[in-house]
Amino acid sequence: MCDYELDEGKSVPYKEKYELKGNKQLIIRVPEETDAQALIDYMKTVDCETHFLAREPDEFDFTLEQEATFIRNLVDDKHSQMFVGELDGQIVANCSVGIVMNKRRYLHRAALGIAVRKAYWGMGIGRLMMLECIKWCKNNNIEQLELEVVTQNERAVTMYRNLGFQIHGTKKHALKYGDGTYADEYFMILFLDEITKPKN
Ligand SMILES: CC(C)(COP(=O)(O)OP(=O)(O)OC[C@H]1O[C@@H](n2cnc3c(N)ncnc32)[C@H](O)[C@@H]1OP(=O)(O)O)[C@@H](O)C(=O)NCCC(=O)NCCS
Repeated sequence: MCDYELDEGKSVPYKEKYELKGNKQLIIRVPEETDAQALIDYMKTVDCETHFLAREPDEFDFTLEQEATFIRNLVDDKHSQMFVGELDGQIVANCSVGIVMNKRRYLHRAALGIAVRKAYWGMGIGRLMMLECIKWCKNNNIEQLELEVVTQNERAVTMYRNLGFQIHGTKKHALKYGDGTYADEYFMILFLDEITKPKN
């Protein structure tokens, strides 16, 4: 019998404001049920804007009720969190972070997914969303944050490297597209105890 205890504490949901270049203000917050339709629209849009996400554009099929239930359930979920980025009242980014498996031997590891609407790339939003995920990990005793990224996704790989993630392997043919072509993925890990200060 192992005699250690699990930390079942959930991070306090919050809303943070950040100044972007051009006097724009980004709000990063947890989603509310009233965001359900906007989130569905957002998911469908980002799936069409890049080949670098896990889904084909027609694969996101949550109904309004399912999306509202998903958001409601996040409140009680101690092991994962979703954040949305809001600019001028619109959802322009999202990221999800959570433990890789709800078994004690895996509770030190979390994985994440992130996207930003294409029109808002390059404004620093992705990096700010990542920092929220890292903060969530630190508040939840996570030791390592992991992700998989298509090897050609230079913007994302640069962002992850600059935050301290390192490549720990390559999965050949991880994705197969509708036209029969493949993409490889890097497996990247950020060891949270190694973070001093993310580069600029
Ligand atoms: C990857 C993604 C989340 C980045 O978001 P973003 O808001 O554009 O990111 P930022 O503006 O914070 O810039 C991130 C980094 O990209 C770098 N960058 C910008 N343009 C670049 C380019 N053409 N090539 C390489 N790096 C580039 C910037 O220097 C920046 O580095 P920094 O972290 O040191 O500041 C966004 O492009 C996206 O949603 N892409 C599609 C979905 C996706 O790929 N998700 C990740 C799946 S693993």
